[in-house]
Amino acid sequence: MTPYAYTPESLKVLFTEQQLQNRIEELAEEMNHLYRDTEVLIMICILKGGFMFASDLARKLNIPCQIEFVRLSSYGDGQKTTGTVKPVDLTLPRLSNRDVLLVEDIVDTGLTLNFFMEYLESLHTPKSLRLAVLLDKQEARQRPVKTDFIGFEVGNEYVVGYGLDDQGYYRNLPYIAHFTDTDSQ
Ligand code: XMP
Ligand code: MG
Repeated sequence: MTPYAYTPESLKVLFTEQQLQNRIEELAEEMNHLYRDTEVLIMICILKGGFMFASDLARKLNIPCQIEFVRLSSYGDGQKTTGTVKPVDLTLPRLSNRDVLLVEDIVDTGLTLNFFMEYLESLHTPKSLRLAVLLDKQEARQRPVKTDFIGFEVGNEYVVGYGLDDQGYYRNLPYIAHFTDTDSQ
């Protein structure tokens, strides 16, 4: 097996750190308004990719929050969905009668979020269930997903950075980028 070629020099920035932070500030303002009378908002961060967005977003919310995590996997080490969503960890508290906000890095084919929202609705009866995604890759959609908050639309290309990875790399970048050189993908 050839080792992974980590090639940050072949990345082109799509959204800078400042653009991400400005947009997240706007989303947080909308949420602070929408949830102003909410006793406690249950934020569910979908791992692994959602960790940076959830953490920056949470710091900009001024409402009481409980932060939970689930882990779903469907891409393995590749850049294409395997078509099967693997629930790695779905441990959650009771959500009945709670205001729930899912936080995810990207909705691409929609398989993951379609699966998870159906799963939540079949097991729990939240007072409200909303979805915040940083990126929406509309063109790639195979399953319907209802989004309530969207950071940015992206085209049908593989993106990395700010939580999003290629074979585990690039998650730590503070910006979102795509590859300019197809050989390095
Ligand atoms: P689906 O296709 O089910 O996407 O909507 C589910 C998860 O797959 C990851 N994903 C990506 N990761 N660049 C990445 O680094 C991408 O372009 C990309 N598209 C999907 C992501 O974790 C998403 O939650
Ligand atoms: Mg993800």
